[in-house]
Amino acid sequence: MRKMRLDRLLSRNGSSRKEAAALVKAGRVTVDGRAVHDASMQIDLDSARVCLDGAPLRTSKHLHLMINKPAGVLTATQDPRGRATVADYLPRSFLALEIGPVGRLDRDVTGLVLMTTDGQLAHRLISPRWEQDKIYVARVEGRLTESDAVRMAEGIELKDFTCAPAKLEILEAGEDESLCEVTVHEGKYHQVKRMLGALGHPVTALHRRSIAGIELDSALEAGQWRELTEAEKAHLYNVTDLEE
Ligand code: URA
Repeated sequence: MRKMRLDRLLSRNGSSRKEAAALVKAGRVTVDGRAVHDASMQIDLDSARVCLDGAPLRTSKHLHLMINKPAGVLTATQDPRGRATVADYLPRSFLALEIGPVGRLDRDVTGLVLMTTDGQLAHRLISPRWEQDKIYVARVEGRLTESDAVRMAEGIELKDFTCAPAKLEILEAGEDESLCEVTVHEGKYHQVKRMLGALGHPVTALHRRSIAGIELDSALEAGQWRELTEAEKAHLYNVTDLEE
């Protein structure tokens, strides 16, 4: 049986510990239809129906979300130098749950960052061994041609390593700049920028739109986040051969 204290469950749903205690005291929390007044009570996560102001709370063990990372923000939950991080956009109570990003985007790169409290899931999503595709949209200098796509497919040789074969799809090719989509399953430092740079096309903007088949929700503006749907969670556990 999975059990959890009521105040912790409320924290998992976005309240601070202090707010959780106040909500319970005010009689706004019900367990199986009855108002409860003890924030320390143990909740059976498999069977209890816990509601706040009549709306059911999420009782799953882990928390998983996607955020549309803005440019200029670190993919981290804290920064000793006080720079903005993706955690600044989340309820503070999520941090106590030790939620962390699945891999990293450079500070100037925008788009999809998955965050989860499940370390094993995060590990498999970023490990090259599990070969999960990440799809980036890149604006680059110069005109991309099919020969660039061929070189990407062959595996670009960088100074310190040879990249696994990757897919380059040209979306727009102009004389001065081009737009493309790059699919990789590795995640080395600055990898996409370095690959396109090695082809002679420095990246001027980079955006991640997909990880392991999960697409960035187009309704999320920069800095907005949402929890993953049940279908998205099931998909991630399925492709990583894990169980929640
Ligand atoms: N490749 C990069 O160059 N930067 C990122 O942030 C992600 C992939």
